[in-house]
Amino acid sequence: MIDATPIVRLSGLRLDRGSRTILDGIDLEVPRGSVVAVLGPSGCGKSTLLSALTGELEPAAGSVEVLGAPLPRGKRALLERRKSIGVLLQGNGLLTDLTAAENVALPLRAHTRLPDPVIRRLVEMKLHAVGLRAAADLYPRELSGGMARRVALARALALDPPLMLYDEPLTGLDPIASGVIMSLIARLNASLGLTSIIVSHHVHETLPVADRALVIANGRIAFSGTPQQLQASDDPLIRQFLDGEPDGPIPFDTAARAMEAA
Ligand SMILES: Nc1ncnc2c1ncn2[C@@H]1O[C@H](COP(=O)(O)OP(=O)(O)O)[C@@H](O)[C@H]1O
Ligand SMILES: [Mg+2]
Repeated sequence: MIDATPIVRLSGLRLDRGSRTILDGIDLEVPRGSVVAVLGPSGCGKSTLLSALTGELEPAAGSVEVLGAPLPRGKRALLERRKSIGVLLQGNGLLTDLTAAENVALPLRAHTRLPDPVIRRLVEMKLHAVGLRAAADLYPRELSGGMARRVALARALALDPPLMLYDEPLTGLDPIASGVIMSLIARLNASLGLTSIIVSHHVHETLPVADRALVIANGRIAFSGTPQQLQASDDPLIRQFLDGEPDGPIPFDTAARAMEAA
């Protein structure tokens, strides 16, 4: 039976950081099986949105439903729910003194009581899924940027989460490695029956693999539709973002830029 309930449902969501409202009035339904691109300029609140999906940041208002139920408040229940959410964070977060295989094994050792040979076999399968079975015994310093990103991806997949969240998966990668990562994300989404939310400011690399696209600007969802509709948009705010014009309706947030530059 096809499950028609959205895998993510946000309604009237407001997210604050300290006394600042970062996002407000966010309504979003993500259908199961889809690849959704969440786009927007640096500092617009894309990572903040992801932190609400993992329960790391509590909403100031509104609700977050993930996998058919509101995110639990209790720490234990939240950790349990998070096993079903694979996250590839900005930067890979690989432990440098562990091999690729040991890094991928970490979530399995932390969250299951599977015997060692089973874990080894699962790790092999995850590394195979990202095309890196041969790199199992290499340390992160021995991997290229693209390979390290794929190991982090294999680790995010370790517990077979139905939902994958990617935060800027292309940061620091050259165009060829970027292409490899993007097609891998799309291929895994289809072959493993996942749902993927890709947060990125790389519009042109991300749109081709997306079924739906959102643009976040000025604290709200400024666009929601298909990639084709986005490309065809004549909204000045959207055009400014897509065409990279410096002086347009998106205000230049000096505080955020200064923080990023620091
Ligand atoms: N932990 C935090 N504490 C305070 N402000 C934050 C924190 N994280 C992000 N912000 C602020 O929230 C805004 C949105 O940040 P972020 O979600 O990281 O944007 P994006 O991922 O789109 O670049 C920025 O102005 C940033 O400075
Ligand atoms: Mg971010």
